[in-house]
Amino acid sequence: MERIALPDRRSLALDGRTWAEVSLTTLRENFRVVQQHVGPKVAICAVVKADGYGHGATECALALEAEGTPWLGVTDAAEGRALRSAGIWTRILLMTGIWKGEEDGIVSHNLTPTIWETWHIERLEKAAKKQQINLPVHLKVDTGMNRLGASVEALPQLCDKLALCHHLHLEGVSTHFASAEVLDAEDAPRQMKIFEEALAVLGQHGLYPPLVHIGNSAAVSARPETWKTMVRPGILLYGYSLPVMRGGSAVSEPSLPLVPVLTWKTRVLTVKDVAAGEAVGYMGTYITKERSRIAVLPVGYADGYPRLLSNRARVIVRGEYAPVVGRVSMDLTMVDVGHIPGIAVGDEVILIGSNNGKSVDAVELARLGETVPYEILCGISQRVPRVYA
Ligand SMILES: Cc1ncc(COP(=O)(O)O)c(C=O)c1O
Repeated sequence: MERIALPDRRSLALDGRTWAEVSLTTLRENFRVVQQHVGPKVAICAVVKADGYGHGATECALALEAEGTPWLGVTDAAEGRALRSAGIWTRILLMTGIWKGEEDGIVSHNLTPTIWETWHIERLEKAAKKQQINLPVHLKVDTGMNRLGASVEALPQLCDKLALCHHLHLEGVSTHFASAEVLDAEDAPRQMKIFEEALAVLGQHGLYPPLVHIGNSAAVSARPETWKTMVRPGILLYGYSLPVMRGGSAVSEPSLPLVPVLTWKTRVLTVKDVAAGEAVGYMGTYITKERSRIAVLPVGYADGYPRLLSNRARVIVRGEYAPVVGRVSMDLTMVDVGHIPGIAVGDEVILIGSNNGKSVDAVELARLGETVPYEILCGISQRVPRVYA
């Protein structure tokens, strides 16, 4: 993926492609909003996995490090090593476990693994011993999501194993919510209860890890009782609050003053006048009702603009909404601009962003594309250069 700093942006603007502008200033402001919300006693592990939710992990991590985040959360050792290679020194939590054979690299790159299996402990202890390092680890407890982590029943055995280690120490304990944003769902309180039981088991074994963390963005927004000593927000930092639900519908909670970090833009590639009754695009799924002007945009599902947005989404051009008409294809998308005077080749088009009081965000595209804003953001493909401001 091409990564372009702001001073080089002019050349990009001239070649007429599709690009994403990432405001690192906004990212830093969002971090400050979240830190203020949870208060100074709760540490933030800023989640920058999956290439920073499509925003660029290295650039985001450097900005968040400069803002003072004590922790960065990534998926695996490969993502962690990439951040270290970029000169990032902040603590890095590997949230999705380890593979056999990665232990030496984890230790030498000062990455902090999440563990829940006895072999995790055995292999990491060996690697830490080899490098004569005292390696901090975080233990993950499965409190009901049935994804990653040790069951409460498995904890005594893991505690005994840890007690035999001379080169590992338990710095953190965590779990992950399945649906923290659903306020009346029973699973979050049930998960909390199981987590408290897990903490009690650790206590019985003399283990009181200082970093206790559960909360993702939804819990940061809506469940202060879960914050403990650290939280792991991702999507909030990129400017999106998840709708908080009660009784099956969204409730209007005062949301945090966050601003989307990413703006996705393209330019009009060509414009054509089409008579009434004409079919537009593959399979002719859109028929013009009247004489129309169609602008063709150089963006398609290969760029991550989902095909499900065909005949559903809208873009902003010259400060007006223009509907997507016909099928989104691999490289091209058509929008009806008949109501917008003066459309010309090269006009800037907003796919995600706002202008003139109009706005399209990843939540809207996710709703229309039958997915979640995460997938929209992560799905913006490598072909789309990121421009940093
Ligand atoms: C273990 C873990 N913690 C935190 C997060 C951050 O989630 P969110 O972006 O909803 O804050 C994720 C993301 O999926 C995760 O897997």
